[in-house]
Amino acid sequence: MTPLLQFKEGSSRPALVTGAAGGIGAATARALAEHGASVVVSDIDARAVNAVAQQITAAGGKAIPLVLDVADPQSWQRARERVHDELGALSILVNNAGIDVVKSVANTTLEEWDRLFRVNSTAMFIGTQCFLDDLDQAGRDSGVRSSVINMSSICGNIGVAFQSAYCATKGAVRMFTKAAAVEFGSLQLQVRINSIHPGTVDTAFAADCLRQLGEAGFAPSPEEARAAIKAAHPIGDMATGDEIADSIVYLASDLARFVTGSELMVDGGYTAQ
Ligand SMILES: NC(=O)c1ccc[n+]([C@@H]2O[C@H](COP(=O)([O-])OP(=O)(O)OC[C@H]3O[C@@H](n4cnc5c(N)ncnc54)[C@H](O)[C@@H]3O)[C@@H](O)[C@H]2O)c1
Repeated sequence: MTPLLQFKEGSSRPALVTGAAGGIGAATARALAEHGASVVVSDIDARAVNAVAQQITAAGGKAIPLVLDVADPQSWQRARERVHDELGALSILVNNAGIDVVKSVANTTLEEWDRLFRVNSTAMFIGTQCFLDDLDQAGRDSGVRSSVINMSSICGNIGVAFQSAYCATKGAVRMFTKAAAVEFGSLQLQVRINSIHPGTVDTAFAADCLRQLGEAGFAPSPEEARAAIKAAHPIGDMATGDEIADSIVYLASDLARFVTGSELMVDGGYTAQ
């Protein structure tokens, strides 16, 4: 059987993951490679992308490290040229990079609001636009629709105190994705686009968020906040990066060939309550 992320004739599907230096992004890069994709491992952290790419290569996968600042349109253009030269037209784009601010509405600065939108939302638009022709071309050439996966969160669906700016950026990801899916369909582009909505994932990002909530007096100690967060998910735990990565592999693959404009909740039941 052909691996999930190879084309029918057996060649690897070119994929790019942003924010892939650690956490969910690194797990996603590893999972895409395990399923047969050639993965561009991108982040602003040059040393870490090299390490993740080396790890994938050592395990027998195909990976290229790339420094990409998602907030910078020129950085995206350089990435497009490099991917095109080395792998051809991109087939899978995972807009994963993200940052957080844990503050009340009253204390969030305009600079923080703008920066959060730039990295969490605007970057997804820049990246999708930058690679759209390539994604469509890859879909036409291979007969397999290309796939864009945008990282939202449960915070794109529900409100969370002291995370208003973050929630707003993730809501923007959710609605851009739906509008783009309808448009791509109407233009008959060979590109699917979906958003993914994790609950709390046990990464440095979540630990930092819990620490900030504790320090600001919004939550008890980080340990108590951690236990409370686990209990808030009906499944009784936080997710691992690998658990989110597996759902991204699904959306990237032909198992999801009729799935576009959808929001995939991977939240241990958090938003089912
Ligand atoms: N951890 C969670 O609980 C959780 C839950 C839901 C959604 N998410 C989302 O998942 C994504 C990944 O989160 P994570 O938990 O792996 O966090 P993480 O902090 O481990 O990883 C985020 C990565 O993004 C990179 N990054 C930041 N700014 C960048 C920029 N301008 N250009 C390129 N890369 C940049 C960082 O260097 C880092 O490697 C984020 O979009 C986050 O909002 C996380």
